[in-house]
Amino acid sequence: MKVLFVVFLIVDSMLFTLASDTKYSIFCHWNTEAYERKKTSFFDSWSINVRLCTHLVFGSVARLDPMGSGALKIINQKFLDNRKEIVNVRRDSCKQIISVGGMKDDAKRFSKMAASMAKRDQFYKSLINFLFKWNCSGVLLDWQNPTSEDRDNFVHLLKELKIILKEYHFLLLVAVSARLGEATPRSYDFPKMAKHADFIILNTYDHQNPYGPKVEYISPLYGNGSRSVERDVRYWVEQSKISKKLILGIPLFAQTFTLENASNTVVGAPSKGPGRQHVYSSRAGFMTFAEFCAETAKWEIKYDKQAQVPYAYKYDQWITFENGRSISAKMHLVKEQRLGGAMVWSIDADDIEGICGESYGLLKVVVSTIGSPNILTTAAPSTDGVGLCPKDGLFRNKWNCQAYYECKYARRTDYECSVGEFFDEELGQCKPSAGVKCNQDFVNWRPGEDGYNSDNLPPNLRVVV
Ligand SMILES: *[C@@H]1O[C@H](CO)[C@@H](O)[C@H](O)[C@H]1NC(C)=O
Ligand SMILES: *[C@@H]1O[C@H](CO)[C@@H](O)[C@H](O)[C@H]1NC(C)=O
Ligand SMILES: *[C@@H]1O[C@H](CO)[C@@H](O)[C@H](O)[C@H]1NC(C)=O
Repeated sequence: MKVLFVVFLIVDSMLFTLASDTKYSIFCHWNTEAYERKKTSFFDSWSINVRLCTHLVFGSVARLDPMGSGALKIINQKFLDNRKEIVNVRRDSCKQIISVGGMKDDAKRFSKMAASMAKRDQFYKSLINFLFKWNCSGVLLDWQNPTSEDRDNFVHLLKELKIILKEYHFLLLVAVSARLGEATPRSYDFPKMAKHADFIILNTYDHQNPYGPKVEYISPLYGNGSRSVERDVRYWVEQSKISKKLILGIPLFAQTFTLENASNTVVGAPSKGPGRQHVYSSRAGFMTFAEFCAETAKWEIKYDKQAQVPYAYKYDQWITFENGRSISAKMHLVKEQRLGGAMVWSIDADDIEGICGESYGLLKVVVSTIGSPNILTTAAPSTDGVGLCPKDGLFRNKWNCQAYYECKYARRTDYECSVGEFFDEELGQCKPSAGVKCNQDFVNWRPGEDGYNSDNLPPNLRVVV
């Protein structure tokens, strides 16, 4: 008996047509700070599966110069130096975008740069140099929370930048704080922004200052108070008039809180502030989905059917996150409102190793709902995002009678029987193959042939390469 680590390769190779043939875009934001995390939360280029993304967006690599010149300043040289190792990220299949900004005090830097012609020029020059030097396909301006004074300058910046970038066929993306507040219509000129940008990323959550006096959902689809992704998206569609350019931002990380009263665990309960930092990602108030997967058994997990999001608690710790079910619900909105796609924020926070079930469990829910209809998927992801591990027990691999897997606390481990043996599901044991019923009557599929989707996929499909 040996443990199999490669069982999901088959799933990955089935998705290979995504990049070339899709009407939706799937942006994978990569927070390059994940290089500094430990163990399950460590993430480097080897972890990337570019077949699941149409665009890869590098975050935490560059900002505007703090001295106010307008030029770009590299803040993660280590990442750029190591970028040669990104052998599995090919420029032709997955476009690479550099994100600028995204941190708390970046708004002021953007504001100063956009207001001055000389500084804007500096910015354009250093940006174009950067894009060429590092072989990028475009830029994402991550200018969060602009004020009403910035409104016209922001449009002006986009307009000029678009003219310059277009010349070299670079893409222009802009991330916006999409939560509707009094400030939103005063800070954003929706139709003009949508005219100049190639894509607008709707950040429907606050990743800068989320810890108020009460516990709140990070990204509720339907909400009563100030938060409702559905209402925000409808508003942006209405105002911008170009829904295909709008991209829904989906958080893959969890926000954690410390409860004031460990017995009061409903949304809106008083909070003392951010949750304790996790030993691997070591950031207070933050947890990756993989970290959560590694300890799901310890948490009490609930799903709010009204808000369409899960939450969980343990002692005085409370977390808000996304699972397969909540992401499916959000992707339904993407399709219904005819948006251009989704951005996962960020890919390094997903369950890369498949601790909860399938590797990249959350991103695959996105891919399976808006990927091209020609894309093969092995099965529709389960609603809980635990992929192929719906309940505890021993199960035979659907596609290979010699292989089986064990599910325990929603965690899957794959095994293989010795040669000449098949796994007998009734007995829960490996037995000589002659005595085990095994229907290996496969339907073969070769790359280039017409694909299947989750509705017409034969259960006994085999990919022949
Ligand atoms: C950019 O691409 C060119 C041509 O494909 C290659 O020679 C060069 O090494 C690349 N530069 C980086 C930094 O990847
Ligand atoms: C909205 O109110 C209902 C009923 O009071 C509650 O169950 C639900 O959790 C609330 N949703 C949010 C997002 O606050
Ligand atoms: C803690 O919350 C529970 C449940 O809401 C409540 O019954 C209890 O009175 C609260 N305790 C304190 C000290 O507020």
